[in-house]
Amino acid sequence: GPAPYAELLDVALEAARRAGDLLRDGRPADLGVAATKSSPIDVVTEMDLKAEKLITGFLGERRPDDGLLGEEGASVTGRSGVRWIIDPIDGTVNYLYGRADWAVSVAAELDGETVVGVVHAPARRETHHAVLGQGARRDGVPVRCRPGTTLDQALVATGFNYVQATRGAQGEVVRALLPRVRDIRRSGSAALDLCDVASGRLDGYYERGTHPWDYAAGDLIAREAGALTGGPPGAPPGRELLVAASPEVFGVLRPLLAELGAARG
Ligand code: IPD
Repeated sequence: GPAPYAELLDVALEAARRAGDLLRDGRPADLGVAATKSSPIDVVTEMDLKAEKLITGFLGERRPDDGLLGEEGASVTGRSGVRWIIDPIDGTVNYLYGRADWAVSVAAELDGETVVGVVHAPARRETHHAVLGQGARRDGVPVRCRPGTTLDQALVATGFNYVQATRGAQGEVVRALLPRVRDIRRSGSAALDLCDVASGRLDGYYERGTHPWDYAAGDLIAREAGALTGGPPGAPPGRELLVAASPEVFGVLRPLLAELGAARG
């Protein structure tokens, strides 16, 4: 029969915790500073792959009939209706530099709908999770998005993908938005930006070019905390555009971003 959400949540939390421990304990203290045998980027890639292997191995044992999609290339077609979407390190550049904003992101879809999301951030000592219809929590405590803010009072985060050719256009959108909001943040982790919208540490977040493994878990966490998420007006979140914000800010930010061409370039 279909997996109860509670079981999927247990598995997701355990997978994220194990991968988080591996990444936290296995990160060389001098990563990105001193010369190592291989380049710092190779070390991060190796850690990323190791963490993805750990998660896929664990899921394979606990949930052998499920499908899987991972940032580092893992892909399994399941037959249970459940599919896991995982990003072993979201915020890779922060991990490389020893900054705190990186996270293991694990989401479970049932028949194409995200039902469980876990974003585990070892260096922040924080874990956010959500279950469809059951709210969002940080370390077990319910979180809600920040209510009642106008755009000019809104703290809005964004991100830039790695495609150098589109970064100029992304900069133009920031330039147009900056005078109209309280301020702009760029954390370097889409998953954590979505968690920060969920808990009211941000009023909104948007980005173009993100992948399902970056946002699957965080998107559910934000929605379960009362935030709205979407893509360009009328579309769901996707590569084109991802917007997440408190309802008040979302209603203004999403059409404004479309007008500024945030879903292009
Ligand atoms: C990246 C981070 C970053 C966002 C990029 C993502 P990664 O994920 O979420 O904040 O701006 O678009 O690719 O590569 O560190 O897993």
